[in-house]
Amino acid sequence: MNTQQEVLKIRADFPALTQKVRGKDFVYLDSAASALKPLSVIERITRYYTFETANVHRGAHYVADLATGFFEESRRKIQNFLGAEHTEEIVFTRGTTESINLVAQTYVKKFLKAGDEILITELEHHANIVPWQMIADEKGLKIQVARVQDNGELDLADFKAKLSSQTKLVAVSHCSNTLGTFLDVKTLAQLAHASGAKILVDGAQAVANRPVNVRDLDVDFYTFSGHKLFGPYGIGVLYGKKDILEAMPPYQGGGSMISEVKLPGTTYNDIPHRFEAGTPHVEGVIALGTAVDYVLKLGYDKIQGIEEELLQYATEKLKAIPELKIIGEAKDKAAIISFVIKGLHHSDVGQILDQEGVAVRAGHHCTQPLMARMEITGTVRASFSIFNTKEDVDALVKALLKAKEMLS
Ligand code: ALA
Repeated sequence: MNTQQEVLKIRADFPALTQKVRGKDFVYLDSAASALKPLSVIERITRYYTFETANVHRGAHYVADLATGFFEESRRKIQNFLGAEHTEEIVFTRGTTESINLVAQTYVKKFLKAGDEILITELEHHANIVPWQMIADEKGLKIQVARVQDNGELDLADFKAKLSSQTKLVAVSHCSNTLGTFLDVKTLAQLAHASGAKILVDGAQAVANRPVNVRDLDVDFYTFSGHKLFGPYGIGVLYGKKDILEAMPPYQGGGSMISEVKLPGTTYNDIPHRFEAGTPHVEGVIALGTAVDYVLKLGYDKIQGIEEELLQYATEKLKAIPELKIIGEAKDKAAIISFVIKGLHHSDVGQILDQEGVAVRAGHHCTQPLMARMEITGTVRASFSIFNTKEDVDALVKALLKAKEMLS
């Protein structure tokens, strides 16, 4: 099968693509914000709600046991998906944002002290900036920021210069949601460890594009969200090395995270349950396992093949549009293209694309420091996935030409 035939086959898995939007074929170029859901994920959620609804880890009846079994099976699937050594290294959270806040409010709160530093980069999503700022204010920590080069790549020399014996945590994105830049997190992990720091990697944008092996990367924490991986909303993962998670205090208090509650004198549960207070997002966890199955069945070779072809084709076509400038042309990048058009506001362009049935994101993409670094206020961002075709790229180009004509 050639790539086009593969993509047509994949498209049949995504019911959303069969609809018309504003009377036009739906061209979805916003997968960096949220991936569409394949039928297998949708059906898995329906099955849980229809036949398997029950709480987990609590019930003494058949359906509760069934749900608990599927829930914990999903944890094992994600363990294998990330190449983690132990199942209990996988903590379920609401998403990447909560995973990072969890580390800030437990690990950093307990182990970092005034004067210690956290090293991030200029291309981080707000979710990998603000939680550190909040805990830094509370504890008197310092945030160091490694520069990004004009082409959207990390300035490694600046990263090395800002990494010191003061640095206790490095927190970096695996793949920029705005520019698509992949960071060489394996090298960054080696550098962090050689300097005595731990490293957290925000993998929200990476996991749908590349296989991740946390042991090979040797990262201490890795986070991702279900909704960017063809899975449900409101569910995400925090991977943490076992010895580190075991040393961390609980995050939120409530049911499930305790060993025994006395008045006073509560003791806490083992990992990962210590970090999973309250009734969890059961159908989210189970269907996230289904999303992982979907990705692995397709295979990353196929995923990368499709996306690289789209990236190359779209980059060429967009560059041919006069006065359009692509922001971020890293050598190693995902199929995410941010651009500006001279004299046009990104929101106006986004609106006209929407009228043409082309869904993109326009704005700062929750990366305002990166916008400041690039001396812009926002971009139009087209992000591609496994179900996109070259015709989708052509539709984007046609709509952009129309936007230019209408707005100039
Ligand atoms: N972080 C998501 C994006 O990049 C929402 O659009």
